Amino acid sequence: MENPVIETMLNHKSIRKYTDQTPPEHLVRTIVRAGQQAPFVSQLYSVLLSRNREKNLWKAPLLFTICVDTYKFELIMAERGWRLVTNDLALLIFGIQDAALMAENMVVAGRSLGLGSCFLGSAIYRSDKIAQEYRLPKRVFPLVQLVMGYAAEDPPPRPRYPLDYTLYENEYLKPDRQRVLEAMKQMDDGYLVQDYYRNLSAKIELEDNRVETYTYENYSWTEHICRKWGQWDPDPENLAKQLEKQGFFINRKRPRQ
Ligand SMILES: Cc1cc2nc3c(=O)[nH]c(=O)nc-3n(C[C@H](O)[C@H](O)[C@H](O)COP(=O)(O)O)c2cc1C
Repeated sequence: MENPVIETMLNHKSIRKYTDQTPPEHLVRTIVRAGQQAPFVSQLYSVLLSRNREKNLWKAPLLFTICVDTYKFELIMAERGWRLVTNDLALLIFGIQDAALMAENMVVAGRSLGLGSCFLGSAIYRSDKIAQEYRLPKRVFPLVQLVMGYAAEDPPPRPRYPLDYTLYENEYLKPDRQRVLEAMKQMDDGYLVQDYYRNLSAKIELEDNRVETYTYENYSWTEHICRKWGQWDPDPENLAKQLEKQGFFINRKRPRQ
């Protein structure tokens, strides 16, 4: 299919190596502007920008931090004599959708203008540090970071599940074992041919005296993702604390300010 939008989307790949070239200001503004035009619940986001390459893992020229932001909307409510009543769990779920849609619009816009990008997911665990650095008021929560710049690598696109493991018409069909194994194989083979985890030195260590039996010859996506979600962060307390430091309360009513 010859369609530049679909081509741009299907050709997406996260970029982890960047050239020294700095994207011009008008591109930066265009990308954020395209991000803004994503569908929204209430534009519950703000975007922070740092041009300090040393501040991000992949030394990219641009580091965006996309935040869920109800602060600005509360200012508008105050102007109109309203007080926020809706609970923070609902606001966060809607705010995360607003922020994620805007962020992905930025990724696609960037790519269409010749820029590569990569999300960084650790922001939620460092939100207090980020809040200090950017002097965020309460009610602004750093959700995810996005580095961007001119790519110094051109990997092939990474695999995804087979479409029939994703799309269900009219009724959800629980996949039988065969389907599960097919989906696993498609993902694992797709990452192995790229030597993806070896190139990134990204094998997750086993905890609790579990014996390592994998090498980079057979360590791939399903093993990686099992080690992640099978070992990390069982207690929600830490994340709940980060949210509370920014004034979001997900398991009780927000204290009246
Ligand atoms: C919310 C989110 C957080 C991510 N965090 C990281 C990260 O911390 N480090 C990293 O190298 N890639 C990160 N990624 C990129 C994913 O690893 C990548 O999108 C996935 O492996 C699929 O590869 P692709 O984007 O090249 O298709 C993140 C992606 C998302 C959506």
